[in-house]
Amino acid sequence: MSLRLGDVAPNFQAKTSNGDIDFYEYLGDGWGVLFSHPADYTPVCTTELGKTALLKHEFEKRNVKVLALSVDGLERHKGWISDINETQNTTVDFPIIADEDRTVANLYDMIHPNASETTTVRSLFIIGPDKKVKLFITYPASTGRNFNEVLRVIDSLQLTANYSVATPADWKEGEDVIVVLAVSTEAAIEKFPKGVKIVKPYLRYTPQPNLD
Ligand code: BEZ
Repeated sequence: MSLRLGDVAPNFQAKTSNGDIDFYEYLGDGWGVLFSHPADYTPVCTTELGKTALLKHEFEKRNVKVLALSVDGLERHKGWISDINETQNTTVDFPIIADEDRTVANLYDMIHPNASETTTVRSLFIIGPDKKVKLFITYPASTGRNFNEVLRVIDSLQLTANYSVATPADWKEGEDVIVVLAVSTEAAIEKFPKGVKIVKPYLRYTPQPNLD
């Protein structure tokens, strides 16, 4: 059965380009991004993993561990990583799972047989410190994902977890956020000293609370 939002992300052990890992141990008590790509030595995947490596400090700042996956083997991963580093001007130092027997791919429903019988689609899961699935997206092989959007979602999820706010459509860092429905207007006025703008009783904005 496929995973849904709020489900516990299953643990697994896997061989990766950085050695054997236990997923939960790798995540520790922080956030995680687990994402699959269809195959090594393919163009869109090369740019995706390069972009992820270039955003290393952005993921670190948010306490997020990144873990990639394809069903290719370790030797292919190693050779391909050199190509990614060379062509994308970066250093891939996050692990890439060599999921040759498709254990993790099946656990996370990353193989969609009507798209490809044998390779993984572009699945991406964001996992919270509670090991629960906070987001998943699935893209086709021909479309590279937007990793800045992945960071934006992480920022939104972390604001919700830490401050009881949600983020409106197209929200960007620095813009006003929305007080979640579970917080009464009275409580919001107390909780958000920068002010609460009440547009409707259910639509209340406040300045992004984690900024000075
Ligand atoms: C790519 O990464 O470019 C790709 C991978 C598998 C199928 C099609 C494109």
